[in-house]
Formats: sequence, structure tokens, C-alpha cells
Amino acid sequence: MSSPEITYLGFDWSTQTLKAVIVNDDLQILQEAEVQYDSDLPEFRTHGGILRGEQGEVVAPPFMWVKALDLILDRLTLEGADFSKVVALSGAAQQHGSVWWAKGCSELVSSLDSKNFLHEQFALAFSLLDSPIWMDSSTKKWCNQIENGVGGPEALAQITGSRAYERFTGAQIAKVFETKPHLYESTERISLVSSFACSLFAGKIAPIDFADGSGMNLLDIAKKTWDTKCLEACSDHTLLEKLGNPIESHKCIGNISPYYVERFAFDEKCQVIEFTGDNPSTIAGMRLSQGWIAVSLGTSDTLLLSLREPHTVQDGHILCCPIDPNMYSALLCFSNGSLVRKGVRDRLADKSWELFNTMLDSTPRGNFGNMGLFFDSPEIIPRGVGFGKWLWNRSGVLVNKLAPENEIRALLEGQFIARRVHAEDMGFVIDENTKILATGGASANKSILQVMSDVFNAPVYVQDSANSALLGAAYRAKHGLMYHNASDDEKPTFETITSGVPSPTLVCTPYSDAEQVYKPMLERYKEYVQSIVKENMTY
Ligand code: XUL
Repeated sequence: MSSPEITYLGFDWSTQTLKAVIVNDDLQILQEAEVQYDSDLPEFRTHGGILRGEQGEVVAPPFMWVKALDLILDRLTLEGADFSKVVALSGAAQQHGSVWWAKGCSELVSSLDSKNFLHEQFALAFSLLDSPIWMDSSTKKWCNQIENGVGGPEALAQITGSRAYERFTGAQIAKVFETKPHLYESTERISLVSSFACSLFAGKIAPIDFADGSGMNLLDIAKKTWDTKCLEACSDHTLLEKLGNPIESHKCIGNISPYYVERFAFDEKCQVIEFTGDNPSTIAGMRLSQGWIAVSLGTSDTLLLSLREPHTVQDGHILCCPIDPNMYSALLCFSNGSLVRKGVRDRLADKSWELFNTMLDSTPRGNFGNMGLFFDSPEIIPRGVGFGKWLWNRSGVLVNKLAPENEIRALLEGQFIARRVHAEDMGFVIDENTKILATGGASANKSILQVMSDVFNAPVYVQDSANSALLGAAYRAKHGLMYHNASDDEKPTFETITSGVPSPTLVCTPYSDAEQVYKPMLERYKEYVQSIVKENMTY
């Protein structure tokens, strides 16, 4: 007799959408559903899932996220989902955003009435009706306050994995504490978007997990506890209680709330596995193990990698790893990505990627010693460079112009050299075991990937991973359950649990002279960046 079919359920509360996926025991997709906040829930009047305020404030209503859950569960049912087969669920959510629960929230989430929609029961759930999210940049003052409170940006980065960032939750909490003291006082618990979403299923306020908690400037990422000095730099002694104790990302939170058993026929033994942030969940969805570096080539270029040791960095973020408690992950975000590539294409290659590639392919690796750096908008890494374009000839002399095809190569080599230098700065070792997993729009462009492969001296693979954060949630649901059910000496690794998922496809390998060509250019980049940060000059 074959064993009854079992399934896993994953969610992703991203900035613009809520997505859900059901996978079978082989982690193959059975059903998917999506809710677009702007068009499906127009009553919240969001644009791109957010609302913009004054002075860089960016918020989203948590009530909208609850309503989206009501909708998506119905949509999954219409897709033919059989919730009684779901043995575990987990989720991902945009990082850094905070949900402020009003007094009485624990009681509320533990006594949901299955005859009503969730949103009918959450009208009074929140003390702050609009949650600050990751796009918010209104907290500069409180960033300084936190850094000063612990002895400067480097000290903060050493403890929490990042210097103070406006979007990180610590500065957001400090702002509410100072500017809305009554509201702060009336708050029972503060969740991240991920732990808030987990609470909706768990029937209790779920803890914050280590990986998403690393995006708060509050967690000591080595000790894996809240750091007292950081907490004190944000608010008062009540913060510890409002946050609750953080836990490992793969932990089982408990059985699903009876609400879902009664309303959607979930099995009462269905387990809720801790939720995490979307970037940690992407690490899970891509099954990023040691030696792999994920490069998402989108509006901004984002690098995700795994590390054995937490390095102290001033630019970029170190997070606790969501899939292996003994590892760390690094997240590097470069804001000048595809838009700059497209701008150069439009200017020099007649708005055609085909011509752009032909011009690129007509130039040699190393570009005859010419180099370039292009920043159309404020860059995150490296910090402090001005806007503009810098071109150097083979003698290291700044020049105004290169031949169009050399300028195209200078752009791409400059971008990938920067990505490599800053990844190595984080302690990522590039050697013969390094492999790159490319995603995002530009990962369809083989000429661009070849430059990346040569600069990193590593093979480049691609994976159909439009939804890696979402898939990561479903994979984590299975791993969390298996881990929970296994005896102490048989705890399965995430890699074993996901070993049946098809491997990524190899698209480029580096030429044999790549390291020889690019090693000196990495050193030149470090020198050039220092000069443009210092002089801040633009053409
Ligand atoms: C990462 C960050 C974004 C959000 C997007 O630090 O702010 O990637 O997680 O949802």
C-alpha cells in the first residue's frame, strides 16, 4: 500500500504580493496562488504594496497583509488545494518591516473564530496601523543614536553584522519610542513581518528567527541573543519583553491554529515551522551551500553567499544562516545594476542587447587595461562615491572617453570586479570550488554572464528561480518538520532534504587566463575606489 500523499505549504509576503505554493513530498509544485495588494485590495490604496509619507517614510498596513491571507487561502482552494494533506507550512516575508501589536494580541490570535474571515477579527489588533517597511529612510537620526550607543559603526557591525541602516528595525523602533511614546507604551509585542505572518498560523505570537532577526541591528549574531546595549540605545527596558526570545530559523513553532482546521480542513497535526525573511528564504530556495554565490542581476545587483565565520564589515550585511545554524550568510546590495547597463546600452548600442553583446564580445578580456566605474544613483557598496562615470586607461590615467565597445566592457568588468572585491572583503574565499548561481533579468544574457564568470574565475549556473523565496519557504517547511521528528543523532541537513530538487544548469565557464587577467584589476579597483570616494569628483 502506498503511503498517503503528503504536501508542504509555503508563503511569501513580499512588498507587492502575497504568494503561496503547495509542493509534494518530492518538492514539486502542485498548486500556486497569488494576491496583488494594489489590484486585489484596492481599498488600501497602495502603490506597489506601499504608502509613502513625508521625509522618506514608507509604510504598509498589516491589516492588508491579513486580508491578503483570507484571499489567498480561498484562491488555493479554487486551485484544487487539499489542505488536509499539508503536514507542515512555513513562510517568508520582506525583511526589516515591523508589526506593532496592540495589548490583547496574544489572546486574540489564540482564540480566532473560524466562522469569520481573519480580517474581521484583526481590526483592533495593531497599535501602529501602518508598519514601517524596508524602503523607509526616515531614521538617520536614530541610526546615529544606536551607533553612538554601542561605540560606533564598527562596534555595531561587529555585534549585529551590520552598521546602522535606516530600514533596519532597531532604528525604526527607536523612532517610534521617541516620537510616539503613547503608542509605544500601548504595544504588547513587536514582530517582524515574517514572525507576524507566522503568528497568524501558530495561534500565538511567534518568536523572531535568528536569520531575519539579523536585519534589526539588535541581535548579537554570534551569541544569538538580543544585545543589551543595542536594546538600550533604542528604547527602554520593556523592549526585551515586546520582542520575545529569538529562535533558530528551522524550529517547529507548534500545531496549526484550530481556526484553519475548522475553516479549511487542515489536519490538526499540521506543524508550523518558523518563518524568516525573504533573503534568507531565497538562500533556502536556491539551496545555497558553501562555495556557491548567488548573484541576482536586477534593478540592483544582490549577492548572497554562505560563510563559516561572521566577518565584521562596514558595507553589506552578515546574517545568521537560515538553513544551517553553524553557518552565516552575507547579503550585499549594489544599487547600480541593470538600469546602468541599460543606460549604456541605449547610449552606445542603439538600445539593442544584441548589438551590445556583439560589441562586448568584440573586445578582449581585460579590455586592453582600460577600466571604468559607473554610478548613476547613490551606491550602497562602496559607500560615499559620487554620481558619475570614471574611465581609466591602461596606465591608470583618468580619461574622458573610450571607444564605445571598450566602454561597454569597462562597465561590465568594473561592475563584476566590484562585486568580487566586496564579496571577498566579507571573507568569502574564491577558489576552484566556487560556483555562481545567476538569477534576475540579466541572467538571460550569456555575454554578460561570461564576463562575470571570467572576473570571478568561476563557472556560472542558472536556475529557474523567479520564486526562490517562496520555494524556500516550502523547502524549509519540509526540513523543519523532518528535523523536528528525527532523533538527536539523526537530524537531517537541509541539503539532504532537498537533494531531489533538479540541479542548476551550467551556462559559462571561465577562460584559463581569467585569473591572470583580472587579479591585478581587482587591486586597481581598490585603489581607484579610494580615490573617487576621497575626491568625490564627477564628470
Ligand atoms: C534586504 C532588503 C530587501 C527586502 C525586500 O536587506 O531590505 O531585500 O528584504 O523584501
